[in-house]
Amino acid sequence: MSNTKNVVRKAVIPAAGLGTRFLPATKSVPKELLPIVDVPTIQLIVQEVVDAGIDTVILVTAKGKSKIVDHFDLFPELEEKLEREGKHDLAEKLRSTCNMVKVVSIRQGEPRGLGHAVLCTKQLVGDEPFVVLLGDDLVDAKVPCTKQMVDVYSKYQKSVVALMEVDDSDVPKFGICGGKEIEPRVVELDKMVEKPKLVDAPSKMAIVGRYILTPEIFDMLESTPPGKGGEIQLTDAMARLMKSQGFYGYRFEGKRYDAGDKFGFLQANIAYALKNPEIRPKLMDYMKSVVESGEA
Ligand code: UTP
Repeated sequence: MSNTKNVVRKAVIPAAGLGTRFLPATKSVPKELLPIVDVPTIQLIVQEVVDAGIDTVILVTAKGKSKIVDHFDLFPELEEKLEREGKHDLAEKLRSTCNMVKVVSIRQGEPRGLGHAVLCTKQLVGDEPFVVLLGDDLVDAKVPCTKQMVDVYSKYQKSVVALMEVDDSDVPKFGICGGKEIEPRVVELDKMVEKPKLVDAPSKMAIVGRYILTPEIFDMLESTPPGKGGEIQLTDAMARLMKSQGFYGYRFEGKRYDAGDKFGFLQANIAYALKNPEIRPKLMDYMKSVVESGEA
């Protein structure tokens, strides 16, 4: 039997944030359920996890966000109705959302930051490595980003964070890493700073919403003092884990979209619509007509 310490089996998806960048849409609809074409962001993220061979998803939700968990439930009445009407494809789409993977959930009582959301899952994760995927961060890739990272973890057996080069103006918006590339795309990290000024940043390599963490992160989170706004920062705890255990960064292959941001959400919708053979030609024609008419 494989040692659970060496295999990544569980995924944590924090989805308890307030989604203020997307108000008023997110007043009563969780941003994680907003659709990318016809599939909610959270379902695309869970699909990435499934494609990476993970067997359990731990959703972190909050007041007003339980619909996210409902999305992965059976809906037999609607399924039967669709079957009766001969809409077998739709019935299958409905079924597939609850057969994807085992989904459990835990609530974060108050939005005390990403670090606190991860800490809420301590008992459910237990003493094994796990992957964290932000509930509003999409990565479109040939090989799922989580799978790419699991492969790095399997080789080095140390925590791994996904990295992406950002523009100067975006450096102060991200956690930024410094380190040495030890093989193509794999960086042995020696610095992690949350939202630095450009002059203080060790590089332009930003942390995006995918992390593989060893269970020792929970000790670090428990002893990390809350920062601005009483939030527990995951980056601060990871920086301490890096010092005690080592940490790798991985420049993943693929395109990342911040679906919790209005522009990122629109970009993701256009990109995913262009991949859909039914919509692509119509969308191309429409975008061309918008540009030609000067409306753009
Ligand atoms: P964000 O900072 O993008 O989420 O956190 P937010 O706070 O919901 O968004 P804005 O800035 O107000 O628009 C990234 C991820 O971490 C989760 C969010 O749900 C999101 O998926 N998160 C954030 C939590 O689960 N708990 C928190 O306390 C904060």
